[in-house]
Amino acid sequence: MSQLSVPHLLGIKDLKEEDIQLVFDTADQFKEVLGRPIKKVPSLRDITIANIFFENSTRTKLSFELAEKRLSADVVNFSASQSSVKKGETLVDTVNNILAMKVDMVVMRHHQAGACVFLAKHINARIVNAGDGAHEHPTQALLDAYSIRERLGDLANKKVVIVGDILHSRVALSNIFALKKLGAEVVVCGPKSLIPRYIQTLGVEVELNLDQALRNADVVNMLRVQNERMDYSYFPSTREYVMQYGLTMERLNRLDRIPLIMHPGPINRGVELSSELADSKHAIILDQVENGVAIRMAVLYLLAASLKA
Ligand code: CP
Repeated sequence: MSQLSVPHLLGIKDLKEEDIQLVFDTADQFKEVLGRPIKKVPSLRDITIANIFFENSTRTKLSFELAEKRLSADVVNFSASQSSVKKGETLVDTVNNILAMKVDMVVMRHHQAGACVFLAKHINARIVNAGDGAHEHPTQALLDAYSIRERLGDLANKKVVIVGDILHSRVALSNIFALKKLGAEVVVCGPKSLIPRYIQTLGVEVELNLDQALRNADVVNMLRVQNERMDYSYFPSTREYVMQYGLTMERLNRLDRIPLIMHPGPINRGVELSSELADSKHAIILDQVENGVAIRMAVLYLLAASLKA
């Protein structure tokens, strides 16, 4: 397989396992490029990419922009907070105006679930979902799975525990789709109020007790508590959340085997994860960020191939 089976990257749900393996194999090559003194290749010369962010971002925005520049694409950045969206312009009008300036690909983050799917139906450009509401964050899941593969090899039969605010997390949903397609065993853990009822239909196990969930785990992915998506309180207090679901060295020292610790960022230090652990040798959080550039180069490169065909 040398091409993706999809014209856009809207979600991991749409991908086949072979698509994910193709992204990984392509990312391996770009990771090698990123280790060279000259980290740039001409692969996307003459391709113009617009990064359209309707929501805040540090890692994803910078990572896409770097990936695009490493591939020699022309890049324009659009931030909704400084645009005519503030004057009431619709999403389709905004993007069509950008496309009228001959843009080939759009990387978009939006607060509404499904915004990228909607856009893909209405505009003539390749779309990459950089996170849509509480729906999907496909490149985060790809870089997470790639980072596990780098450390542990094959993901098949590895136990991955995803902890925290599963209900509001696009990272959790995309990770579940990716990990299950790659044959991992997935356990979700968090307060019952933050675990959606449908989750078991995705083939994951639910464990409300963190100490139980962590037994024999190969990986633990700690999610941020997404206060901005909560319209009321889902647990009694932050202190109680930390006691039940916060990851600390003391908690890990009770295990026979310490799992790899992951976090998509931004971290609430001292809430989902102690500062000591975030900075420890067990955490691969900055490896995830580093791998994000190679993964996004791979995704853009593979999607652009169908533009040139
Ligand atoms: N992981 C992630 O999506 O981080 P940002 O919100 O900073 O992009």
